[in-house]
Amino acid sequence: MIHVLAAAERNIKNAVGRNNMNTVIAKVDPNNIDRNIINEAACILKNGGLVAFPTETVYGLGANGLNKDACKKIYEAKGRPSDNPLILHISDISQLSKLISEKNDISEKIIKKFWPGPLTLIFKKSEIVPNEVSGGLNTVAIRYPENPVAKALIDACGFPIAAPSANSSGKPSPTLAKHVYDDLLGKIDMIIDGGSTVFGLESTIIDVSEGKAVILRPGAITKEMLEEIIDNVGIDPSILKLSSDVKPKAPGMKYKHYSPNAEVILVKGDKNNVINYINKCIKEKSEENKSVGVMTVDENIILYNSQNVISLGKSEDFEEIGKNLFKALREFDYRNTDFVYSECFEEVGEGLAIMNRLKKSAGGKIINV
Ligand code: TXA
Ligand code: MG
Repeated sequence: MIHVLAAAERNIKNAVGRNNMNTVIAKVDPNNIDRNIINEAACILKNGGLVAFPTETVYGLGANGLNKDACKKIYEAKGRPSDNPLILHISDISQLSKLISEKNDISEKIIKKFWPGPLTLIFKKSEIVPNEVSGGLNTVAIRYPENPVAKALIDACGFPIAAPSANSSGKPSPTLAKHVYDDLLGKIDMIIDGGSTVFGLESTIIDVSEGKAVILRPGAITKEMLEEIIDNVGIDPSILKLSSDVKPKAPGMKYKHYSPNAEVILVKGDKNNVINYINKCIKEKSEENKSVGVMTVDENIILYNSQNVISLGKSEDFEEIGKNLFKALREFDYRNTDFVYSECFEEVGEGLAIMNRLKKSAGGKIINV
């Protein structure tokens, strides 16, 4: 099925992971796509296998979205709870109508402005969508990504690709092929390495299934951007208040997420108070022989008394901060960090998505100083 004979010239290698499956790893330049690699990946997907591929948000773990047995393998490889539905990825608007049973003016407006892109829509589903995709709901999540490698792969398959983020369940979503390799080597058939993702946070999810727009997961397409084209953009209450008594509408949003091995602690308040508090914690934890990391911004990096400080970018540059967040959380693991203290960000624009992911990585713990 897979021709690895020309491995060198096509930049393909095979690696065996802990679970003993051969995982083919193939580099693809998004600006000069090697069709042989895409065809091999499509062949794996047609035969019910799993392929991780880049999108402009995060890497996805793909399976044939109309094949329930293939979709089941996604849950096994990720260790994902079975009630957490998958997003179907399409590569042309014409593929939408057979997957859904209802459209409306709101979805039309959003699609026109934001597809292809970092945005997922929830529609009432059609009968061909398997329960393994919809998690037993009567709705389905659809995304039309812009990344050329993702688009080429979906085109080559001729069916929608079901793909959650390509991480082990609970870990930060992968923004580099290396992250996928670290989590899923030996558990999946292929990883397409298309370099670093552009946005670094998963797509904004908007429920349009009930005739209005409600944000279920914040992302790079912000509430403010949506309000430029539609009135009354709602927001799932669980996003604003992380608490066990507010049940999120997107099933996946209820799970602890984005967690490195380190314990993440968010510190909020006046800048000087935050820095003083974190420096005090660095001192105390170091005396207990614990390794402490700090997540901050360029302007504050020199103010911390630790060797293990990562800046996410300039304090005003939420795009850059969003792009670097998951990579930084994983970097602390590579550095064997026990505790990560992070500054907080204003919850406007993309700041809402950044704080949503940060709060989840900290299990909701914020220290106000
Ligand atoms: O950027 C992204 O969206 C990436 C790339 C690969 O496309 N995918 C991604 O998938 O983040 P995943 O599975 O990690 O997150 C999908 C989220 C989950 O929280 C899931 O519960 C929610 O979408 N979801 C899927 N179908 C849904 C539905 N019918 N109703 C409500 N939420 C749904
Ligand atoms: Mg995910």
